[in-house]
Amino acid sequence: MGPIPFLPLREINLPYENTISEALARVRESGIYLLGDELHAFETEWATYCGTRFAIGVGSGLDALWIVLEAWKELGYLKLGDEVLVPAQTYFACFLAVQRAGLVPIPVDIQLPTAQIDLADAERALSARTKAIMAVHLYGLVAPMREIREFASAKGLLVLEDGAQAHGARDASGACVGAMGDAAAFSFYPTKVLGCMGDGGAITTDDQDFADLVRKIRNYGTSSKYHHEVTGFNSRLDEFQAAILRTKLAAIEHTLERHRAVAGHYLEALSQRELTLPAPRPGELPAWHLFVVTVPSRERFRERLVSEFQIETMVHYPILPSDQPACLPARSRATPTAERHSQECVSLPCHAMLLDSQVSQVIQAVQNLIPPK
Ligand SMILES: Cc1ncc(COP(=O)(O)O)c(C=O)c1O
Repeated sequence: MGPIPFLPLREINLPYENTISEALARVRESGIYLLGDELHAFETEWATYCGTRFAIGVGSGLDALWIVLEAWKELGYLKLGDEVLVPAQTYFACFLAVQRAGLVPIPVDIQLPTAQIDLADAERALSARTKAIMAVHLYGLVAPMREIREFASAKGLLVLEDGAQAHGARDASGACVGAMGDAAAFSFYPTKVLGCMGDGGAITTDDQDFADLVRKIRNYGTSSKYHHEVTGFNSRLDEFQAAILRTKLAAIEHTLERHRAVAGHYLEALSQRELTLPAPRPGELPAWHLFVVTVPSRERFRERLVSEFQIETMVHYPILPSDQPACLPARSRATPTAERHSQECVSLPCHAMLLDSQVSQVIQAVQNLIPPK
């Protein structure tokens, strides 16, 4: 029984070693490193996988969120100072993208046990300046999209999905994350379910005009060389990353199956313990990017998991974005469930290379430390 690291990235990429080497050689020999065949092929494959008409590769998940908002500004759907509702417990990128676009992130509380946005609180957070809502599929569970869409259409809000943690997650109707809002942003940061070997991201949409605009914004505002039509940026998914992603995308269902099997074991074995387990909605197929439980004495629990059982855990996330010094002052709102969650959440190891014996090791350790209900 060896130590169990939280996410051994080298091991996770090991099954793709040969195909990735071939893909990298293909790009090297092509002499084209940006905006070439690999990117175009990946964009087609990613759009098809998500069930959208278009996918546009960009430099990171943060850029994907930010470029969507910039494009909506360019189209006149948003203007400087407009407010965007964002779940209070999430990665800081969600808030930063809104701020970077000159918009104002408004934290909305989450509900447990799903840890997804609480629409009753979203209603309370509305103001005359609210123009969009960010539907973050946190930890790889699916945000309550039907309710979010109904709420957004009743209030006239745009819906931006953040699928960074939920590649391939599906709701009960079988719809895939990325195809459920007005636009979606993805990150391919190396730790993600579909991760590259560097930074990468993508935007998905069904809207042709929006897709064309996003393609310009990611490439200096041009659609043809030296003609700068809009204020753009340099945020391109490079050919090496696109080639790696194509290789790994071919096996994504296998990866997801393994994540779901690991999560299934945890859910079954820990259901009678004094902790809060993640709770997907009926019929949903999460991506299980993270398996996050809550325990009241988190630090002690984590310490004992490492010192007594050599099991590494992580915390996603210990400080709410709205409490970060880098968060610009907005209308301040109390988000008590998110606050408590940030103090009690712990992520257990959950990835495709985790062996059954390691899953059992984690379960036994948790059972040892957490009493029955
Ligand atoms: C929910 C969420 N949104 C956005 C991002 C930003 O992605 P990136 O790191 O690729 O910029 C991340 C993660 O890194 C994330 O977890």
